[in-house]
Amino acid sequence: MKLDELNFKKIAIICGCTLVGGLTFSFGLFPMILKFMLKQNVLLKPGTQMRWMFEKIPFPLDFKIHLFNVTNPDVVMKGGKPKIRDVGPYYFEEWKEKFDTEDDLEEDTLSFTLRNTWIFRPDISAPLTGDEMITVPHLLVLGVFLSVQRDREEMMPLISSGMKIIFDPLESAFMTVRVMDLLFDGIPVDCGSEEFAAKAVCSGMESEGAVAPLNETHVKFSMFGMRNATDAGRWVVYRGVKNIRDLGRIVSYNGEPEMDIYDGDECNQYIGTDSTIFPPFLTKQDRLWAWAPEICRSLGAHYIGKSKYAGMPMSLFKLDFGDLKNEPENHCFCRDPPEDCPPKGTMDLSMCIGVPILGSKPHLLDADPKLLEGVDGLEPNEAEHDVFIHFELLSGTPVSGAKKLQLNLEVEPIRDHEVLGNLPTVVLPMIWVEEGVSLNKTWTNQLKYQLFLGLKFNATVKWLTIIVGTLGSIGAGFMHYKRTSQVTQVEQVAAGAKSEGGGRFISVSAATTEEGKNGGGGNLPAVLDGLDPSGISKRMSDPAQKERY
Ligand SMILES: *[C@@H]1O[C@H](CO)[C@@H](O)[C@H](O)[C@H]1NC(C)=O
Ligand SMILES: *[C@@H]1O[C@H](CO)[C@@H](O)[C@H](O)[C@H]1NC(C)=O
Ligand SMILES: *[C@@H]1O[C@H](CO)[C@@H](O)[C@H](O)[C@H]1NC(C)=O
Ligand SMILES: *[C@@H]1O[C@H](CO)[C@@H](O)[C@H](O)[C@H]1NC(C)=O
Ligand SMILES: *[C@@H]1O[C@H](CO)[C@@H](O)[C@H](O)[C@H]1NC(C)=O
Repeated sequence: MKLDELNFKKIAIICGCTLVGGLTFSFGLFPMILKFMLKQNVLLKPGTQMRWMFEKIPFPLDFKIHLFNVTNPDVVMKGGKPKIRDVGPYYFEEWKEKFDTEDDLEEDTLSFTLRNTWIFRPDISAPLTGDEMITVPHLLVLGVFLSVQRDREEMMPLISSGMKIIFDPLESAFMTVRVMDLLFDGIPVDCGSEEFAAKAVCSGMESEGAVAPLNETHVKFSMFGMRNATDAGRWVVYRGVKNIRDLGRIVSYNGEPEMDIYDGDECNQYIGTDSTIFPPFLTKQDRLWAWAPEICRSLGAHYIGKSKYAGMPMSLFKLDFGDLKNEPENHCFCRDPPEDCPPKGTMDLSMCIGVPILGSKPHLLDADPKLLEGVDGLEPNEAEHDVFIHFELLSGTPVSGAKKLQLNLEVEPIRDHEVLGNLPTVVLPMIWVEEGVSLNKTWTNQLKYQLFLGLKFNATVKWLTIIVGTLGSIGAGFMHYKRTSQVTQVEQVAAGAKSEGGGRFISVSAATTEEGKNGGGGNLPAVLDGLDPSGISKRMSDPAQKERY
């Protein structure tokens, strides 16, 4: 085909239309389509994939437990500085299942009962087996004594004689136990005594839910055993059908629309979701709020930067416990503000679990340095101990991340007690756990195909149409003028990509002579001149051109 047989004007028009169409698609239609499709997928309506995933997460969460072995218990009993060693991780699969689901169309809520099940994975935990012997503070003994001393001192004589009977002989604040007994299998406690003091202590421990019945005479104590494969509350959350921003937000827990723990309404609210789900279309300014029954509190991770996961761009969020003393809006989390607030980087869980325990990041990372000085053997480092979440904002997907929490017993001497009277005043780390998820290829690919290829497609369409449309129109328009008007002269055609604030754009500037000026005036780009109706009608009158139309 020869060059002058081509209808440059037609090509110019087609290219112009491509440009306009492509831009409309990229800036108008595509975001709408994507938003619509995302919404359809993430709502908790029956039948959506999200609902199916939400009801039974089709993969287990990684649950890792580290214990702190106290290697010098005798020294500590005399008031010395505790030496501790991190033993772990013991690796478990954690399956989260939600059943007895009920939809409320009117309120747009979903009710369900949660059940957590932990399965030990000796293969991943190796060389640890769970049969190791470890020395830890005796949580029942110290827990009871410390909380009675703090909150109900008048009960001390009764409790003290009761404890003496139950834990006979009561020789230490520490116990040496098999790890799996402590975590799940249970440590037997003899509650068979008929003495009133012993009965009082035993019924107290049972009503607090600290121990479970074993046989006629004994109860057993474990840190997680009683929560394994049992109901973990009745939850009501928004489905997000009426308002997508409410997706997954907690409405009530065990029938209560708020907690009744803190002196202050702000602190008693459930803020955010249960952390397995988040609403889509979040921005960097938003926080990832989630509430957890274990700590009776909502925490919100904040954006700190960009990240990558499985080859896809993500946003990195980080969780901080802050410094309550300097946060007046959070003073209701303190026992007696503004003076009696937990140290920086910790939270007071005593109101939540009834035992003087501080929650912190593992190895007291980011906590008041004084706490770290109180014990030997901690090695906080960001990589292992900080709390990060790789998050995909548009779809609201946490692709990789872990909740980490360390429990520290606030130890102090038990006044006038023959055995426990010389304990040091120290914040003693006991255990840290990590509950995490990292989506594998099956799931990241899904995200990639559903979302990122869509976004890439959007970008490709945009650039392709801009380049084809602009260059095509300029080129075709130019050729057309060259043929129809001998005086057409392009002074300057500069097409290039410029970088500006992350977004690229093509700058085109073209100046045409007489005919261009007659048609559109000024410095209009060729593409507009080509579409100029007056120009078209003028050329239509040219008999040589007419044939082609
Ligand atoms: C598609 O591309 C346009 C142009 O860059 C952009 O404004 C729009 O946000 C993109 N759509 C989505 C859903 O990202
Ligand atoms: C990812 O996990 C799922 C279970 O949820 C499993 O069926 C699948 O095989 C895993 N995919 C890969 C690539 O490991
Ligand atoms: C805990 O420490 C004691 C005393 O140092 C030691 O005998 C024991 O083996 C340690 N246990 C583990 C699991 O490391
Ligand atoms: C938790 O309970 C399940 C079901 O009863 C059981 O199979 C599993 O072994 C228990 N987990 C642990 C760590 O004991
Ligand atoms: C109850 O269990 C404990 C601990 O395993 C055992 O020592 C005790 O003999 C049992 N008592 C009865 C009555 O079975």
